[in-house]
Amino acid sequence: MSVNSKSIYHTKNLDHDYFEKQIVHPYESTKQFFKFLNKYKPLKNKKIIDLACGSGANLFYLKKNFDLKQCWGFDQNSYLIKTAKKFTKQKNIKSLNFKRQDIEDLNFIKDKDLRPDGAISIQTLSILNDYEKVIKFAKNLKPNFICVNSLFWQGDIDFKIAVNFLKKNNRKTIKINHYNIYSIQHYIKFLKKLGYKKVTIKKFKTKKRLHTKNKNLMGSYSINLDGSSAIKSGPIILDWYFVLASK
Ligand SMILES: C[S@@+](CC[C@H](N)C(=O)[O-])C[C@H]1O[C@@H](n2cnc3c(N)ncnc32)[C@H](O)[C@@H]1O
Repeated sequence: MSVNSKSIYHTKNLDHDYFEKQIVHPYESTKQFFKFLNKYKPLKNKKIIDLACGSGANLFYLKKNFDLKQCWGFDQNSYLIKTAKKFTKQKNIKSLNFKRQDIEDLNFIKDKDLRPDGAISIQTLSILNDYEKVIKFAKNLKPNFICVNSLFWQGDIDFKIAVNFLKKNNRKTIKINHYNIYSIQHYIKFLKKLGYKKVTIKKFKTKKRLHTKNKNLMGSYSINLDGSSAIKSGPIILDWYFVLASK
């Protein structure tokens, strides 16, 4: 598995604050995501896999607040997986496993014990080149449902947004990230083609005002837009949607 050395998800470029803060203080979007999911798919006794689990913060929150049977977290970053395993051991959390794994690798051969009821992926589809491989990866695990939190747009347009962080004095790219925004209708059509025919959507909204230290950098903050609150990062409006698809 080779990760672009300029990617902000390469170990040498990781924003440790982003991943570690969440373990202690889960994001409002994480809490709302699981509330949404639990409303339609009661999580008690369920087995869940988190695709691109980062440092495991979302699964720690899930295990603490819902009575799950078993959880797995996959991420390509070995440092983040190590952090997740360390915390699991420290807190003696049972039935929670982490593995370093490329979630776009469709040749992945799954362990026979890996039989999740549901696959989730949080704030990850938008940072990948595209969502198709990951959703196929999820489908191959044969879950009853797939639920994601990602950036979507209502029209028939996919926005492929590459964010290049430049050096101050010349145009050399030091780090890269993506903030892709996908057509939600096309995403739904893709899910339906894979057999996930029942789809429920919720746009993430929060009354909490978000702040960032420097608006010229990337980082979420609240703005007023069309008479209500919206989230912006750099020049991009972040329309986060929860999309649950089941068989
Ligand atoms: C924006 S972070 C989100 C992490 C976590 N879901 C969260 O909500 O905090 C994106 C994550 O995707 C992981 N990632 C990116 N490409 C991946 C791939 N091909 N396979 C597995 N993980 C990947 C990165 O290592 C990073 O942890």
